[in-house]
Amino acid sequence: MPRFKRHLITSALPYANGPIHIGHLAGVYIPSDIYTRYLRLKGKDVIHVCGSDEHGVPITLKARQEGVSPQVIVDRYHELNKKAFEDFGISFDIYSRTTSKVHYETASEFFRTLYDKGVFIEKTTEQFYDEEAGQFLADRYITGTCPHCGYEKAYGDQCEQCGTSLSPTELINPRSTISGSKPVLRKTKHWYLPLDRYEPFLRKWILEDHKEWKTNVYGQCKSWLDQGLQPRAVSRDLDWGVPVPVEGAEGKVLYVWFDAPIGYISATRELTPDWEKYWKDPSTRLIHFIGKDNIVFHCIIFPTMLKTEGSYILPDNVPANEFLNLEGDKISTSRNWAVWLHEYLEDFPGQQDVLRYVLTANMPETKDNDFTWRDFQARNNNELVAILGNFVNRALVLTRKYFDGAVPPRGEISTYDREVLEQIPLIRRRTEHSLDHFRFREALKEAMALARLGNKYLADTEPWALVKNDKERVGTILNICLQITSNLTLLLEPFLPFSMQKLREMVHFEKTDWNLIGRDDLLPEGHQIGEVKHLFRKIEDEEIEKQIARLQATRTENEGNNTIKLPPQKEEEITYDDFAKLDIRTATIVAAEKVPKTKKLLKLTLDTGIDRRTVVSGIAEFFSPEEIVGKQIAVLVNLAPRKIRGIESQGMILMAEDPDGRLHFIVPEDGAVNGSPVK
Ligand code: MF3
Ligand code: ZN
Repeated sequence: MPRFKRHLITSALPYANGPIHIGHLAGVYIPSDIYTRYLRLKGKDVIHVCGSDEHGVPITLKARQEGVSPQVIVDRYHELNKKAFEDFGISFDIYSRTTSKVHYETASEFFRTLYDKGVFIEKTTEQFYDEEAGQFLADRYITGTCPHCGYEKAYGDQCEQCGTSLSPTELINPRSTISGSKPVLRKTKHWYLPLDRYEPFLRKWILEDHKEWKTNVYGQCKSWLDQGLQPRAVSRDLDWGVPVPVEGAEGKVLYVWFDAPIGYISATRELTPDWEKYWKDPSTRLIHFIGKDNIVFHCIIFPTMLKTEGSYILPDNVPANEFLNLEGDKISTSRNWAVWLHEYLEDFPGQQDVLRYVLTANMPETKDNDFTWRDFQARNNNELVAILGNFVNRALVLTRKYFDGAVPPRGEISTYDREVLEQIPLIRRRTEHSLDHFRFREALKEAMALARLGNKYLADTEPWALVKNDKERVGTILNICLQITSNLTLLLEPFLPFSMQKLREMVHFEKTDWNLIGRDDLLPEGHQIGEVKHLFRKIEDEEIEKQIARLQATRTENEGNNTIKLPPQKEEEITYDDFAKLDIRTATIVAAEKVPKTKKLLKLTLDTGIDRRTVVSGIAEFFSPEEIVGKQIAVLVNLAPRKIRGIESQGMILMAEDPDGRLHFIVPEDGAVNGSPVK
């Protein structure tokens, strides 16, 4: 007996404050769609739910910028994104939204149940309040200097330089990013989910019972658990969101990350009156498809919520992907560095499958990956057109030409024919194995092996050269090609749904049953095939150059904006005496090594003229230890020493930082004696 009777597939609810781009598709929605289509073809009981995540501070800020209500923003992007998913064949059973009535009810009930069970801790704390903007500040909207490494643009929740998690009150010189003003502390009461209490349960459930999770997911969970979990506030002071459903909580809403995952439940509830069987019956297999930035919420926080509620099942797997880059750079909405789905369709109408194919082939499954237009063109021209399209087209055209479109009888079978036919079930099994393990790139490769096989078979057997003398043999060859073709319509359906639908229409084969794959009699002798059309077309250099030029223009524009991104004003005025307190000196880097397990940190040994000392510096992304040894630099030597990753850092190297974050040493022009004071 299989352990599971049905599947509940969820895809991360995208925020309704911007359009969908290729990074979203490759990271979450293509894998979840392939997987769901695969299960549907296998005849499984499966539903796939998604919807818009419509709460959270960024939405309120965007609304404020545009001078409209948050509802206007989410209405706009909800419709746009819903359509984009439909256009790309992402086959949700429902695309709901977290501003729906049923969601408000579901989320309130959920909170209330936990509240009544006494799960939450109530705490009054002091939080930063922006008096100019008239609101409490979410951690992300406070910046300041990191107390651990001195990085000046650390966020209230994390320092991106040294990776330490922070709380906003730890920041030195905090600022509101909304108004730029200095925030003040105000008392406020909130409800906390005491994650620390569930640590033993989480450790066992994840680290022991789910060793099969992808290594990137398992590793992140382990690292969260090893760092020790803290209680997490699940409410916020905000006027946009699901109101906290208890007395004395005016002006407070559920934290967006508390309500959003409950959105999966609300969506299911909206979809079917039978929703409880998908959420509460342990024979349902729950799978969350997400991007890597969502791992802690789906593997630790939401499961804790589900567990403490008591009546829900937990996810059986969370196959999170890493990120997709575009032409070597991080995809960014604010820098407009993206390929937007709606724009893609304007330039490549009807070619959704090409993008689906390329994004699957480059899916960032185990590490970040890059999308380039050149690769897009090459994969289309060399794989979709030259292999799949070419094979199918020749098989169908020749059948029409030599046999008036009727499947010819299969005569005597050669050893080669038999070997080819025997490959089909093997290819199926390999594809299944990859799909079952959420290895979609590999699955696509395995499935494409059938098209390659067909293409090679045709090239090897050359029916066009035999037709004069041995039409019966040609019939056998084409019969086999047509069996391969009908198998392809099933095997590639999860990946290329539009093209396989087209192909099914061409061969008049309408069955959509995965279990048929492997058979060599899907199209019986005499079966009439239909009109032949091209599945794919060649993509020309000009089309690609146009896309590259567009990105180039964006890049130039962004560079033009750099002046704006530089600090617009000088810092507050200081006296000479203030300046004189800084003891800055020239020094030489005499040794450098990476700080283990960090991305950005180098441990430097400096000859400062007065002594030799160690400084830990966040420059490893731009400089290798080898290239900087021997370099003369400027260093602040009287900065109070502090420990960074267990190493005592005695000073700070002076660097100039570009608008795009690149760092440059400040170097004495033609050498200076080490220890020379900089004035
Ligand atoms: N909106 C979130 C994001 O884009 C994902 C929410 S997933 C859910 O990162 F579980 F909360 F719904
Ligand atoms: Zn730091």
